[in-house]
Amino acid sequence: MEKNSKIYVAGHRGLVGSAIVRSLKEKGYNNIIVRTHKEMDLTDQAAVFRFFAEEKPEYVVLAAAHVGGINANNTYPADFIYINSIIQCNVIKASHDNKVKKLLFLGSSCIYPKFAPQPIKEGALLSGPLEETNEGYAIAKISGLKMCQFFKKQFGDDFISCMPTNLYGPNDNFDLQNSHVLPAMIRKFHEAKVSGAAEVELWGDGSPLREFLYVDDMADACVYLLENYSGAEHVNIGTGKETSIKELAGLVRDIVGFEGEIRWNTDMPNGTPRKVCDVSKLHAIGWKEKVDLPEGIRREYEWFLSQDKEDLKL
Ligand SMILES: NC(=O)c1ccc[n+]([C@@H]2O[C@H](COP(=O)([O-])OP(=O)(O)OC[C@H]3O[C@@H](n4cnc5c(N)ncnc54)[C@H](OP(=O)(O)O)[C@@H]3O)[C@@H](O)[C@H]2O)c1
Repeated sequence: MEKNSKIYVAGHRGLVGSAIVRSLKEKGYNNIIVRTHKEMDLTDQAAVFRFFAEEKPEYVVLAAAHVGGINANNTYPADFIYINSIIQCNVIKASHDNKVKKLLFLGSSCIYPKFAPQPIKEGALLSGPLEETNEGYAIAKISGLKMCQFFKKQFGDDFISCMPTNLYGPNDNFDLQNSHVLPAMIRKFHEAKVSGAAEVELWGDGSPLREFLYVDDMADACVYLLENYSGAEHVNIGTGKETSIKELAGLVRDIVGFEGEIRWNTDMPNGTPRKVCDVSKLHAIGWKEKVDLPEGIRREYEWFLSQDKEDLKL
């Protein structure tokens, strides 16, 4: 990839896409093209095909997706399977037709079977039933990974896929209805500090183990894969390190500076006891994370404080 190669990042305003654009720019890539959802709806095949024919991107990162929390996934499964399938079909086919040199497709950890052995290896894909609540989304994403693999097999296209673990960082979602655990904790502890509350309630008993990757590290890994990987199999992107929800809560509380108590509401579900990626393949390719969890939380909290609260929909 040359520094002036034309690189199209789809989904550049999202958590993942925005970090990938930052990372590409930091590394000196200077010909990045983007379109907002309003400018080009990726479900509109004619618009996507026209855009590729006119712009002729050389590299494509597909970080646009219709995403949502467990409730949205469970309530609107048809939207999740349809919108994501069609976005992928359009972008992958247009990339093939226009001889894109390389495409990176972003998957998600929900592609793996519900009871996959931990830490989850890439080879666990399609080895068992999926979590029912987000099956529509997962099936669309699995089909995206497979499309990349099959375009490589049938046509020799250099289309690769990666599967990032739980991400956090700037542009995270702080809406308590559908946010992930880390931004939800930042918001809860921050609001409790500001209001002088005596305690913060968190769900479960704090025992589940989870893996967290700072989004700029994920982006760095994506660019690294674009530069160094052309295998047929997708690659997990994570740290391989586990943190309990209780440890995480302690870290976030200290960084935010909340001095009250944490009350664990054990009437609420814990979720799966352990979820962590096996990252030996990524390490073998030559990449490791740089930002540790306390540093990443500090950076995310600083970003949170710097934002207009209306933009964050608080
Ligand atoms: N967040 C995580 O922890 C995580 C972890 C692993 C993998 N991933 C994967 O990374 C990808 C991106 O996730 P994210 O967290 O960055 O999501 P996000 O913050 O919601 O961003 C998604 C982006 O896609 C765009 N988009 C959605 N539908 C579109 C359409 N029809 N046409 C054009 N643009 C459209 C959105 O634009 P608008 O906002 O304008 O609609 C937004 O810029 C997904 O494939 C996800 O599975 C995320």
